[in-house]
Amino acid sequence: MTDMVRKAISVGKFKSYHSSRHGFMVHGDSLSLMKEMADESVDLIMTSPPFGLVRKKSYGNVDAEKYVAWFRDFGVQFRRILKPAGSLVIDIGGAWVPGQPTRSLYHFELLIMLCKDPEIQFHLAQEFFWWNPAKLPTPAEWVNIRRIRVKDAVNCVWWLSKTPWPKACNKRVLTPYSTSMNTLLKNGYKAKLRPSGHDISDKFSIDNGAAIPPNLIAVPNTESNSYYLRYCQGKGYMPHPARFPAALPEFFVRMLTDREDVVFDPFGGSCVTGEVCERLRRKWVCCDLDEGYLKAAVGRFERGNVKDLKPAKSSSYSLCHPAVLWNGDDPEKLSKDGGRQRPKRSPAATTPKGREECRRFVQQRLLKP
Ligand SMILES: C[S@@+](CC[C@H](N)C(=O)[O-])C[C@H]1O[C@@H](n2cnc3c(N)ncnc32)[C@H](O)[C@@H]1O
Repeated sequence: MTDMVRKAISVGKFKSYHSSRHGFMVHGDSLSLMKEMADESVDLIMTSPPFGLVRKKSYGNVDAEKYVAWFRDFGVQFRRILKPAGSLVIDIGGAWVPGQPTRSLYHFELLIMLCKDPEIQFHLAQEFFWWNPAKLPTPAEWVNIRRIRVKDAVNCVWWLSKTPWPKACNKRVLTPYSTSMNTLLKNGYKAKLRPSGHDISDKFSIDNGAAIPPNLIAVPNTESNSYYLRYCQGKGYMPHPARFPAALPEFFVRMLTDREDVVFDPFGGSCVTGEVCERLRRKWVCCDLDEGYLKAAVGRFERGNVKDLKPAKSSSYSLCHPAVLWNGDDPEKLSKDGGRQRPKRSPAATTPKGREECRRFVQQRLLKP
């Protein structure tokens, strides 16, 4: 099968580092690898590049300012190797400007470059946001100590395409109906014109069995007992420090490709994309510069039998309206200097009276059915 994949995307002189039934890993620089790959040979590029993080991670991120210039050559190759109806999906985290509570624009500049550069010219099919409900509140200085910013819990996911019409179907990624939609389906809906001008016809109350998901993908990144991690522990390998959860590539692989289509992850890391494709029977190639990450990724495929790999667990999350105190007192005055002066100690979220109001709010509005 690997030969078929090799043939499908022709990787030239590059050897496979490890292969499984539907794909293989390549150790090396993905820019050089892509130069060997045939034009229009890939259906989906699903990837999470090294982020232009302020605090450098162990796998060598490029500085935020140089990021876009560094990425450009990849963009040119991405465009060339993608089939006309193919897609490029990039999961990219934001970054803080060093020493001040403002955000870098690098991931937006990257998006603009990929769409506006005359040699690349992708279309933005849709922007997605991956919300990690388990994300810790960082950076502590702005969020926990000075209390002047909120928790940054989403990554941007840019879905780009060569034409405005990439192949796609949202029926592949339906989500269960919410409780309120189930109630509405049960009790019926009166067709009417909404204040926004949207005409909600009686078709709205047809039960399709499941809902069309929004462009907010809620998946925690809390893998703690996977086969991959146990394999790393058993062999004494360092697990990859910036893995995405399998549900993220799975969403796009399902929505944007068919069985036997070719998926490429040029910044493959621990080969989550490869594992997902193996399970979904897409041909795949994952490339990474760091052999250590690939060595550990081999564990994902060691069992050989793809049926052993379990699909992602389904779970749901609810986000409360941020109105815990909206009828109460503001806990304290806003500091006129915008938090420039570091407080002697971290201000409490609320005054004692405010805390009591929070508790009452939760009791009355959230815990009661
Ligand atoms: C954010 S990580 C990807 C993690 C991966 N999605 C996962 O879930 O395991 C980015 C990866 O890109 C790799 N990388 C950086 N530059 C590369 C290049 N030019 N060619 C191949 N891999 C590269 C790094 O070694 C790192 O493992």
